[in-house]
Amino acid sequence: MSIIKSTVHNQSEEFIANRNRYLERIEELQEHRQRAHLGGPEKARKRHIEHREQILPRDRIRLLIDPGSPFFELGELAGDGLPEGTQVGASVITGVGLINSRQCMIIANDATVKGGTYFPMTCKKHVRAQTFAIQHRLPCITLVQSGGAFLPEQEGIFPDEGMFGSIFVNQIEMSAQGIPQISVVMGSSTAGGAYIPALCDEIVIIKGKGFMYLGGPQLVEAATGEKVEHEALGGAEMHCRDSGVTDHLAEDDAHGLSMVRDIVRNLGNLPEQRWDVAKSVPPLYPVEEIYGIVNQDTKIPTANRQILARLIDGSDFDEFKANYGDTLMCGFAKIHGFEIGILANDGVMFSESAKKGAHFINLCCQRDIPLLFVADVPGFMVGEHAERGGIAKDGAKFITAMCSAKVPKYTLITGGSYGAGYLAMCGRPFKPNAMLAWPSGRAGIMGPEQVANTLATVREDILKREGKSWTEEEREEFKAPHRKRFEDSEGAYNFASKLWYDAVIDPTETREVLALLLDLAGRSPKVETKFGVFRQ
Ligand code: COA
Repeated sequence: MSIIKSTVHNQSEEFIANRNRYLERIEELQEHRQRAHLGGPEKARKRHIEHREQILPRDRIRLLIDPGSPFFELGELAGDGLPEGTQVGASVITGVGLINSRQCMIIANDATVKGGTYFPMTCKKHVRAQTFAIQHRLPCITLVQSGGAFLPEQEGIFPDEGMFGSIFVNQIEMSAQGIPQISVVMGSSTAGGAYIPALCDEIVIIKGKGFMYLGGPQLVEAATGEKVEHEALGGAEMHCRDSGVTDHLAEDDAHGLSMVRDIVRNLGNLPEQRWDVAKSVPPLYPVEEIYGIVNQDTKIPTANRQILARLIDGSDFDEFKANYGDTLMCGFAKIHGFEIGILANDGVMFSESAKKGAHFINLCCQRDIPLLFVADVPGFMVGEHAERGGIAKDGAKFITAMCSAKVPKYTLITGGSYGAGYLAMCGRPFKPNAMLAWPSGRAGIMGPEQVANTLATVREDILKREGKSWTEEEREEFKAPHRKRFEDSEGAYNFASKLWYDAVIDPTETREVLALLLDLAGRSPKVETKFGVFRQ
C-alpha cells in the first residue's frame, strides 16, 4: 500500500478561489449539455410530438435501456458552432447503454434537427460510435429517422473515407466480425437513411410512422413521373408483408423499442469480464476537492498527484521508479476495483521521464493492464542539454511504446496539454479507447502566449533582415490576434465540438466513467501488443 498524502489546504484563500472558478466551469458544462439535450428548434420538436405523435430521441433511448441505468454519451457536444451550421449534437445521439443487462452502442437520429439528416459532423460522430462499438464488440442499436444526406453539404458527406460511406463499410465489417446490429425504422428513412437499417441483422419498423425507401415520393415523381404514396412506397406493412425488407412490425415507438429489448435478450451469452475486479473502495479524500486543486491561473500546472489521490481507490498508488524521471508519475492503482496503469504528468517531459514511461507501458502490456494517461504537460524539454542527452530518441521510445500498446488506453486532459506532449500522452491520433477532458482541459501545438511570441520572433527576424524595426505597441498588435486564435481553439468545448474529445466530463464523474469504460474493455478479447523498434 502506498497512500498518497493530501497536501491540500481546503480552507486556504487560493483553494476557495480555485473552487469558485471551477464551479463556474461546471455551470458552463451543464449549459452546454442542456443545449445539446434540447435537440432541434421548438417548432420541430412540437411538430414531432403533437403532429406526428412521436417520441423525442432521448425519450426513446430512456425507454430502450434498463430502467435507471446510465447512458454514457460519446460526442454529446459535437457539432456546436461549426461553419456547416449543425446544432450541438450534430443531429444524432450516440452512446453506450444497458439493454437487458447487455451493454450496447445506441445510435439515434434526431429528426427534429433538419429531418435527422447527416451533416459532415453527423457522419463523423456515427463513424466514431461504430469504431468504439467495434473496439468493444458492442451490439449496435440504431434508431433511424433520417432524410439521409444534408444535401447542401455533400462535399463533407459524400466522396471521402470517414464520411457517410464509411458507415456502411463499418456495418459490413461489424457484421463480418459477428457484432450484432439491430435497427428500428421509427420515421421517414430515405436514401442513406434506408441503407443503414438495410445493412442490419434485424429491422423493426413502426406501423404508420416508419417509412423506408431509397427515394421518397417527391424524388420518385421527379425521377420517373410515378406518383406514389409513402405507405405504398416504403410503409411498415408493405415492407413486412411484401418486400420482406423489414422483419418485425411494431404498433408504436414503445412497442418497437420493447421488441429491440427482446431481440437483445436473444443475442446469446453475455461477454465475460476477463479481469479480476476487486471490491471498490472510495478515495481517502473528497473528489470534489479537485475543484480547488486545479489552479484558476492556467499558467500554473495541475497538481496531478493530488488529483490522483482523489480519483483512485483508497488513494493507493503503487508508484514505479518514483525517484527517477519524476516529471512523469507512473504507477498501479485501482478505479472502482479495476486495476489500471496510470501515467500522469508532473512537469515537462525529460529523457528520463520518457524512458520510464516506455518501460512502464511495456510492463502494463505484459500484464494486460489498461493504461490511463492523465495529461497536463507543456511538452518535451528543448535546448542543447536536452538534445545532447538524446531527448529525440527517448521521446520516440515513449511514443513508440504508447502507440504500439494494444491494452485498452484512456486519455484524460486535466490541464494544458501541449505540443508533442499532447500527442505522446495518447492524444487523439493515437486512438485511445476514449478521449476525455475536464472543463479545465486545454490542448494545442503551443500555449497561446508561446505561439504569439514565436510568430513575433519570426516576424522580428524578417524585419531585421529588411533593415526595419517595430515598436513594442506594434509587436503587441501583431501578437494579439494569434494569441486570441489559440485561446479560442485550445478549450475543451472547441475540441469536443470537433469530436477530438469523446466527452467533456465533470471531475466528479471521472471514476464512474472510467469504471464503465474499463468494464466494457474487460469484456472484449485481449489484443496482443507487438512493439515497434525502440531507438536506443
Ligand atoms: N438535405 C437538406 N435539408 C433537408 C433535407 C436534405 N436531405 N431533408 C430535409 N431538409 C430540411 C428541410 O429543408 C427543413 O429545413 P428548415 O428547417 O430550414 O425548413 C428541415 O430539414 C425539416 O424538413 P421538413 O420536410 O420540414 O421535415 P419533415 O420532418 O416533415 O420531413 C424528411 C423530413 C426528411 C422526411 C423530408 O424533409 C424529406 O423527405 N427530405 C428529403 C429526403 C431525401 O430525399 N433525401 C435524399 C438524400 S440523398
